[in-house]
This record gives sequence, C-alpha cells and structure tokens, in this order.
Amino acid sequence: MNPLATAHPAAIIDGVALSAQLREDVTRRTLALKARGVTPGLAVLLVGDNPASQVYVRNKVKACADSGLHSVLERHDADMTEAALLARIDALNKDSSIHGILVQLPVPAHIDANKVIEAISPAKDVDGFHISSAGALMVGQPGFLPCTPYGCMKMLESIGYDLRGKHAVVIGRSNIVGKPMAMLLLQKNATVTICHSATKDLKALTLQADVIVAAVGKRNVLTADMVKPGAVVIDVGMNRNPEGKLCGDVDYEGVRQVASHITPVPGGVGPMTITMLLVNTLESAERSL
Ligand code: GUN
Repeated sequence: MNPLATAHPAAIIDGVALSAQLREDVTRRTLALKARGVTPGLAVLLVGDNPASQVYVRNKVKACADSGLHSVLERHDADMTEAALLARIDALNKDSSIHGILVQLPVPAHIDANKVIEAISPAKDVDGFHISSAGALMVGQPGFLPCTPYGCMKMLESIGYDLRGKHAVVIGRSNIVGKPMAMLLLQKNATVTICHSATKDLKALTLQADVIVAAVGKRNVLTADMVKPGAVVIDVGMNRNPEGKLCGDVDYEGVRQVASHITPVPGGVGPMTITMLLVNTLESAERSL
C-alpha cells in the first residue's frame, strides 16, 4: 500500500465522453452555418509517409466528416520542395472554401517547419502554431489556441476546477504544448512552474503542485511518489510501452491511487486535441461570415 494513497482512486476525466459532448455542439453549429450557405472546411497537408502522421491525419479527416465539416487531405511525396509546399499554402490561404489549414508535423528535414507555419494565414491557423497566434496568447488577445493545451483546459473546466491561486506544474516546454499550456494556466490565475530536461529535482516541484500537466513524450516521467495527494493530473504523452501498448507520460496505475483526478491514455487528451481542431475550424468559418 502506498502511504500517499488517498481513500479512493482518482476520478477519471474521460476525454472520449467530453469530446462526444463538445462534438455534438460542433455538429449543431455546423448545421446552422450550412443553413447560412457556409460549410466549414479544413485542409490537411501531409508531406511524406511518417506512419504516425498518417494515422493522425486520417483521424482528423474522419472527425471532420463525423461532424459535418468539409475536409481536404493533400498527401505529398517526401521529396516535395519547400517552395512547392509554400505555393500550396498560398493557394489555400486564398481559397474561400477553406477556413483552416493544417500542415502535419514533422515535415521532412529539407523543409523549414517555421517557414511553413508562418506561411499559413493567421485567420486560418487552426493549429494555433503561427507566431501571431502565439503572440496573441502571450498578451491575452483573441486568436486560435493550440488544440492540445486548449483541450486540457476544457478537461479542467469539465470538473469545475478553479485554478485561481493554485500551483500548476507543466512538465515540458514545447511550442505546441508546454509553453502555451503554461500561458493558459496563467491566464486563469494559477501560479505556474515550467519544468524541463534541465530542471533540478523535478519531484520537489511536482510534490508542491495542485495540477500537473505532463507533456514530455517519455514513459513514467511522473510516478506516484512525485504527486501530492489530491492533485489533478493531465497526461499529454503518447508513447508505447515495451509490450507495444499505447501509454502516456504518467505511471497511470500508481498515480491514480494518489491523485483526485487523472486523464487516461488512450481516451484522455488525444480525442480532445482533435475536438478542439474542429472547434477552431468551425469558429474560423463563423468568423468568415
Ligand atoms: N504533429 C504532432 N501533433 C501535431 C499537431 O497537433 N498539429 C500538427 N500540424 N502536427 C502535429
């Protein structure tokens, strides 16, 4: 028995159920928009044949169809030039049937990902990766939020969690998850600590946390001995264990004995990321009216 264990295992924040609820609203609003002559449209560009990326883009396109959004999947050969990709983005920026443009990352090494991201019109930046979207988030102006941190915030909202004055620890400092996640938590008046590979004594920091977001991409980054009883734990990781099973960054079985709430992998943050992509695309289309 873990001496830190709480009386009950953590409540599970179910990303599949919450997604279904949010997608119902997306479907309803999409129908309303269609009645006004606008079908929200998403363009998904995949360069090369990265197997994980292929699964991700397929899931995104399917989610669009399920909620009534229009989507276009463009698959390009791995040897596509940067100039050709930038030209495709330019054409999609001008295409009024497309409200969101997403270039699946990573792109092949000969293509500059930053150049690609900055080529997307900020008005169609439904991934929220453009420097102007990141800047808007930083200063609290409206703009597209990156889908994964946006989904994590919706999960906290779903349990009625008030972040004011709470200590939130984000593990990971990527531009896609860690940094924007920290900004969103800060916006809700949490005290935020960002931890990363050079952090000394991660455990001393996580033990102080009321909320922990793990976004490293490595198994067992967070174990039960690192979690304060009653903390809320959000697991953004997508890894495989030695048996090939999908798992997150958190030792789920251990941590759920200590935390008050926890997100599972699979079935946690993953579905929420795609749901927020639909929300962003829909809102882009609504704004176009
Ligand atoms: N690669 C991994 N995650 C993402 C994402 O959310 N968007 C894009 N465009 N590429 C990714």
